[in-house]
Amino acid sequence: YPIKKPVEQDWSFAGPFGTYDKGQLQRGFKVYREVCAACHSMNLVAFRNLEDLGYSEAQVRAIAAEYEVEDGPDDSGDMFMRAAKPSDRFPAPFANPQQAAASNSGAVPPDFSLIAKARAVERGFPTFVFDIFTQYAEAGPDYIHALLTGYEEDAEGHEVPEGTYYNPYFISSASLAMAPPLSEGMVTYDDGAPETVDQYARDVSAFLMWAAEPHMEARKSTGFVVMVFLLLFGGLMYLTKRKIWADVH
Ligand code: HEM
Repeated sequence: YPIKKPVEQDWSFAGPFGTYDKGQLQRGFKVYREVCAACHSMNLVAFRNLEDLGYSEAQVRAIAAEYEVEDGPDDSGDMFMRAAKPSDRFPAPFANPQQAAASNSGAVPPDFSLIAKARAVERGFPTFVFDIFTQYAEAGPDYIHALLTGYEEDAEGHEVPEGTYYNPYFISSASLAMAPPLSEGMVTYDDGAPETVDQYARDVSAFLMWAAEPHMEARKSTGFVVMVFLLLFGGLMYLTKRKIWADVH
């Protein structure tokens, strides 16, 4: 199969001063919970983490209460279900990978906690050298956006195995066991953003980037201060060296 390269998108969180757009993250979260969560788990993210998206403590408690998680054992040694609390993590849609595979033509929908980082496609020399300076780390969301919007009807003469769907952006084989999950108008937005497949894909990709790197903003601002410090420190060390060696001819 010919595998296509994802098109680079504009992200609010790109570059050394990039920040997440909270409105976009909230929309992406809505797409995740209403569409993707039917198949994809997000085992490392707790409800309380949603405060990063701009929700208050009370809102987070209300969101958590809409979910049920397993707890126990109780006094008689039984497991039981109860409403989720902010400290709980997102419950997985399937009990185990075998069950997940059985419901998805044998393929296991990958966990979403780190997917945006896990699909940060290799860019090779010399591009990755520039990426260090531009802080390019959006290959993951570029890929997810391309995958979600990149399904094609016509496999151009390639045979697509039964139960799979042709998508030239899929890294492993261009035919994947996930049917196109998004369609126009399927998720209602209350902030006036367009309810299109492209917008859903963009928002859920941004949300998955946040899930994979919730502390990105702190990392970037600390990194900037460190660079300024190192420049000043380097300058001072150079002047110190000049002074110490000034009398040596
Ligand atoms: C795989 C995203 C909804 C089932 C994937 C992958 C991503 C993804 C990024 C990984 C592709 C790779 O390995 O490179 C999404 C998003 C969704 C969504 C953002 C919501 C908008 C769903 C739904 C189902 C599903 C609703 C089940 C009906 C699968 C399966 C795979 C997969 C089975 C594994 C495919 C394979 O390895 O052939 N999805 N997905 N996904 N997804 Fe989804």
